[in-house]
Amino acid sequence: MNSNLFTALCKPPIYTKTEVPFWDDEYISKQMLDAHLNPEIDAASRRLEFIDNSVEWIRQMVPPSEYPTLIDLGCGPGLYAERFTKMGYRVTGIDFSKCSIDYAKQTASSKQLDISYKYQNYLEINLGETFDFATLIYCDYGALSTEDRRIILNRAYQHLRPGGKLLFDVFTMKKYEKVKEQQTWWVCHKNGFWRADEHIEMNASYKYLDHVILDLTVVISKNDITPYYIWDTCFTKESLIQEVERSGFKVRGIFGDVTGSMYQPESETIAILLEK
Ligand SMILES: C[S@@+](CC[C@H](N)C(=O)[O-])C[C@H]1O[C@@H](n2cnc3c(N)ncnc32)[C@H](O)[C@@H]1O
Repeated sequence: MNSNLFTALCKPPIYTKTEVPFWDDEYISKQMLDAHLNPEIDAASRRLEFIDNSVEWIRQMVPPSEYPTLIDLGCGPGLYAERFTKMGYRVTGIDFSKCSIDYAKQTASSKQLDISYKYQNYLEINLGETFDFATLIYCDYGALSTEDRRIILNRAYQHLRPGGKLLFDVFTMKKYEKVKEQQTWWVCHKNGFWRADEHIEMNASYKYLDHVILDLTVVISKNDITPYYIWDTCFTKESLIQEVERSGFKVRGIFGDVTGSMYQPESETIAILLEK
């Protein structure tokens, strides 16, 4: 048996990190950009209708007149950042997908929108300035390990002025309950999501204690056998509040999503508004 393949497919220790770029891989990030820009599907970004509603609700909750400077962590190709700018915020967007940041810069310039985009890892930012408001949208927080979640909360805290706000969303136990542990495979002849050339994708869903899910894809091409680990930590309202309060934030609102729907036990996401 091929031991590399066997090891790649086995259930790894919790929060094992992918050893090669994923968001910033040259080929994969182009497929990801297409997914971000597809207005009809909730893929890398949510559907445009959702984003429009979301930005409108955010404007009312955290108005640009009181919170003029906004840092959008994991801004992708700038779908939120552009809308925020049009509503009157002065926006800084951070993302470590070069492909998305290049697209965002070009689009902002063609629309004459003054947005500061930075190609950086948000876990490592040290911008030497503070903002009135920070956003981390589309459940990126839960994709991080426990240690990286602590780091991003600290980075956000450090980059907010006293009284500044942080808004982010996470998946709830509904997602954890829906996932069944399973293993499948798929033959792709060309132009797949992961590789341009022919390859096989093997997928597994694994569940862990503490409401953690792993979506594992092992790509087998003629050159490599590469496992990609996409983690999701799902939260209850209580577990989320407990975690964020440890970092010094005060909870100012709990919602069902980032359009401000009411949080209910059956909500698939929780959006949380925090204050420094
Ligand atoms: C699920 S997408 C959401 C994009 C955007 N917030 C939206 O809702 O349209 C997550 C984004 O976060 C970026 N990202 C993930 N981890 C990051 C990190 N450590 N530093 C900077 N950007 C990161 C990815 O490149 C991707 O663009």
